[in-house]
Amino acid sequence: MRVAIIGSGPAGFYAAEALLKRSDTTIEVDVFDRLPTPYGLVRAGVAPDHQNIKAVTRVFDKTAARPNFRFLGNVCLGVDLTVEELRRHYHQIVYAVGNEGDRRLGIPGEGAPGCTPASVFVGWYNGHPDYRDVQIDLSVPRVAVVGNGNVAVDAARILLRTPAELAQTDIAAHALEALSASRVREVFLLGRRGPAQAAFTPTELKEMGELELADPLLDPQALADCPPLAALGTTPADKNLRLLYEFAARGPGSKEKKLHLRFLVSPTEIICDASGRTRALRLEKNRLEQRADGSVAARGTGETELLEVGLVLPAIGFAAERIAGVPYDEKALVIANEDGRVVDAQSRIRLPNEYVVGWARSGPQGLIGTHKGASARVVELMAADGVGLEARTLPEPEAVVSLLRDRGVQVVSFEDWKQLDEIETARGARRGAPRDKVVAVEAMLEALARR
Ligand SMILES: Cc1cc2nc3c(=O)[nH]c(=O)nc-3n(C[C@H](O)[C@H](O)[C@H](O)COP(=O)(O)OP(=O)(O)OC[C@H]3O[C@@H](n4cnc5c(N)ncnc54)[C@H](O)[C@@H]3O)c2cc1C
Ligand SMILES: NC(=O)c1ccc[n+]([C@@H]2O[C@H](COP(=O)([O-])OP(=O)(O)OC[C@H]3O[C@@H](n4cnc5c(N)ncnc54)[C@H](OP(=O)(O)O)[C@@H]3O)[C@@H](O)[C@H]2O)c1
Repeated sequence: MRVAIIGSGPAGFYAAEALLKRSDTTIEVDVFDRLPTPYGLVRAGVAPDHQNIKAVTRVFDKTAARPNFRFLGNVCLGVDLTVEELRRHYHQIVYAVGNEGDRRLGIPGEGAPGCTPASVFVGWYNGHPDYRDVQIDLSVPRVAVVGNGNVAVDAARILLRTPAELAQTDIAAHALEALSASRVREVFLLGRRGPAQAAFTPTELKEMGELELADPLLDPQALADCPPLAALGTTPADKNLRLLYEFAARGPGSKEKKLHLRFLVSPTEIICDASGRTRALRLEKNRLEQRADGSVAARGTGETELLEVGLVLPAIGFAAERIAGVPYDEKALVIANEDGRVVDAQSRIRLPNEYVVGWARSGPQGLIGTHKGASARVVELMAADGVGLEARTLPEPEAVVSLLRDRGVQVVSFEDWKQLDEIETARGARRGAPRDKVVAVEAMLEALARR
């Protein structure tokens, strides 16, 4: 059997591992990625100051070392290769393309200079080639990060780290330079619901109280409607509240930078100055409303305030990008599927031999580890559905590579990536960092051509 996996993030790699471990039949797995580098958001999303999380790539490298594994980097499905061509060359296809689009606030002024989705900021500091030329204006003293998830916390923390802290990480050199010259002194983390509904996790929140040069600031009044300290248990939400009580009790602190934690506010408008740049955010105060299903929603009160900020980073979630020929669920903003089997978006009828894993299947929820079991379960469906498929004769395995080369695509193998890896780690050693990323695709390909 020959299987194509599109996307080399955690979901793609865990699917490859589960396929290559199957004992009922021999499977050859080709993992494609639009970038010359593997690992998806482990390389381009996970924060540079969380190197321990990035160590999961060693697990993926073991999968890549299996005999029937091939990496075909620098190949974008929908651009370099069509879905129809994939169908011709493989018995089964797994889409593992993640969520590379942003959800929008949908407010006036969104998109003005100085209002940048957090995913762009994250891609920029992590050296994702798509964002290397983005201009992030760090000459402003105040920044708002909209959202109360871990991505918002990552963005706020990177803004508040010292240059010395950042230099020891694999942050992109251009971002290290810009953040070292940053004039940002205050970051506002804005939650539309209350402290008890925040989506960030206690470990990430705790770090905000341990920054070298920044204090967390929280008005004790913000906790007035929360359960008292003595009533808190050990759930993540309770652990968050415990930390927030501690932050509120600290008072203003003496460090030069501040992280303001604000709850029950929603942005309603980005206000620009005469030159069209972001100058402020209009916020509406919210109250909480209990729904019949037990969930808690934010409702606007009509009362507004103006928050003067020169940069706004909405961190409110992601969406899968559309790929020509792959059914798209317009409501869930993912590849249309039933439990990982791709279906037609309208009729919901299954497309034979096509599957989806990871964020492209479920939307942007869940940690890296959750994909291990989830991808393996989809591989079980593939095994059940795929009996006898190998009887279909396919073109030779090299045919897809030749097709791409004939189109002028420089296909990057896993061995090529390992060479890039060596180049990056050697560059990083010069500044005492785990790596210094090559951030331009052309530079990566040139470095490989020079060998
Ligand atoms: C900013 C951020 C920080 C995070 N930090 C953590 C953390 O600290 N710990 C943790 O456990 N989880 C973290 N997560 C969550 C974790 O990264 C995700 O759960 C996981 O990466 C999703 O895996 P995936 O394989 O579905 O998608 P991705 O990791 O996004 O991988 C998708 C891959 O598909 C490729 N691709 C996309 N389109 C195409 C195409 N058309 N053709 C070919 N290739 C394509 C992309 O280049 C990419 O390599 C973080 C997420 C974000 C956004
Ligand atoms: N260090 C880590 O482990 C780490 C780091 C980064 C990401 N991740 C993981 O990656 C996943 C995605 O993270 P995420 O932060 O993007 O998503 P998330 O956890 O879903 O958080 C999204 C946040 O945006 C808010 N939001 C959504 N729409 C909004 C709107 N229109 N206006 C204002 N606020 C809005 C949500 O509020 P509501 O709750 O009110 O909807 C929520 O606070 C999560 O599973 C996360 O844990 C982990």
